[in-house]
Amino acid sequence: MPSFKTPRGTRDLLPPETATWSRLERLAADLAARYGYRRIETPLFELTDVFERGVGEVTDIVEKELFRLAPRTEESEAWALRPEPTAGIVRAYIQHGMQTWPQPVKLTETGPMFRYDRPQAGRYRQFWQFDIEAIGDAGPAIDAEIIELGTRFYRDAGLVGVEVHLNSIGDAACRPSYIAELTAYFEGKRDALPALERERLGRNALRLLDSKDPAMAALNAAAPRITDRLCDPCAEHFASVRSHLDALDVPYRLEAGLVRGLDYYARTTFEFYVAGREGQQQAIGGGGRYDGLVELLGGRPTPGIGFGIGIDRLILALADTGATVPPEPAPVAVVVGADPDDTTARLKVATDLRAAGITARAELGRRRLGKQLESASRDHAHFAVIVGDELASGEVGLRDLPAGTQKLVSLADLAREIGRAHAAHRHGNTTD
Ligand code: HAM
Repeated sequence: MPSFKTPRGTRDLLPPETATWSRLERLAADLAARYGYRRIETPLFELTDVFERGVGEVTDIVEKELFRLAPRTEESEAWALRPEPTAGIVRAYIQHGMQTWPQPVKLTETGPMFRYDRPQAGRYRQFWQFDIEAIGDAGPAIDAEIIELGTRFYRDAGLVGVEVHLNSIGDAACRPSYIAELTAYFEGKRDALPALERERLGRNALRLLDSKDPAMAALNAAAPRITDRLCDPCAEHFASVRSHLDALDVPYRLEAGLVRGLDYYARTTFEFYVAGREGQQQAIGGGGRYDGLVELLGGRPTPGIGFGIGIDRLILALADTGATVPPEPAPVAVVVGADPDDTTARLKVATDLRAAGITARAELGRRRLGKQLESASRDHAHFAVIVGDELASGEVGLRDLPAGTQKLVSLADLAREIGRAHAAHRHGNTTD
């Protein structure tokens, strides 16, 4: 017999861990809504071009990590699984004429992304992101608003000690001369460069600052800094982002080497780290401004900014800090019966309870009443509904399992009675 397993770099999410996922997804959706972000869903795959142009051809994500789908026929267009959502969301913004909507268009998407990376702890081939995008606002106030939103998400998720790393990488006015200076700097160190970086140097020197190769650390530390070479409008923008963050009491650390691994960024860039775990590959989230991306993908020049928060890494970080996993909700009622064979009656009572909004499970195994009650207790149910001879007169037994009390209740009153008693129990009043 074959024994099938998940593909390398992927995993099954199982209960009870999935309860944490559901909680974080709800938190992300609620928080995004509170800040005025509306949900968008884009396909899990796009034309490869969307990523090659959007994310950039000379990036790890496109050069090495893109999951390209094999074309079905010779005429097929080339597709790839999305390595990140921003390019697809901007594609949708242009395709659906969102530039005619009130600006900025604030969108959020949470879902799986795919990168053909070398798997290791916290680095998967399928991973989840909570993504936020505000398209059509040049900032700088919204830059701070978005960074504050990210920090609040971590805090509400229960993760303490999150640090914001912040930088500005300039724009089309000041970056080219900086890149020329950076290229000259690395050219001078050519012999010390690892082969891949030497090859990249002629194409995009900024990428070297973002290198994962440990041999680059010292060279990068001594490299010229973009923040010392910003043009006046970029410097003003950056100063204003910082003063807005100060006003919101969001602490940050300036990181001149933070250029991000995607080509679409301009001006503000940022990453989130757990303090003390700041190495590359450890970022629990990151984002920045992408003022040229809409135009690059065929739209009118439109500024934008956003972030992606890695849900997998957030969950690992929560586990590391010993944050407790919330208990899974127990069924409020389990319907059991004196006649083990009468599954119909039990199923019907449970179905009516669910229709009335009560979380209920019917005992569908044909076992003795004692065993059925044991399983209700094991489930930490609040009530056992006992279907017996009284059903003929429209009544069932209602046993409060923690209190150990029991009474007869008419079927017509059952859901109301359970709902009322359960609400009182949850508010700490068990005298009912
Ligand atoms: P990114 O920095 O490439 O940015 O990814 C964002 C986050 O996704 C990372 O900080 C990390 O937590 C998580 N992540 C990335 N790769 C993996 C992986 N292989 N396994 C597990 N988690 C991973 C973006 O994707 C941009 N789209 C963010 C953005 C939105 N910028 C503007 N708007």
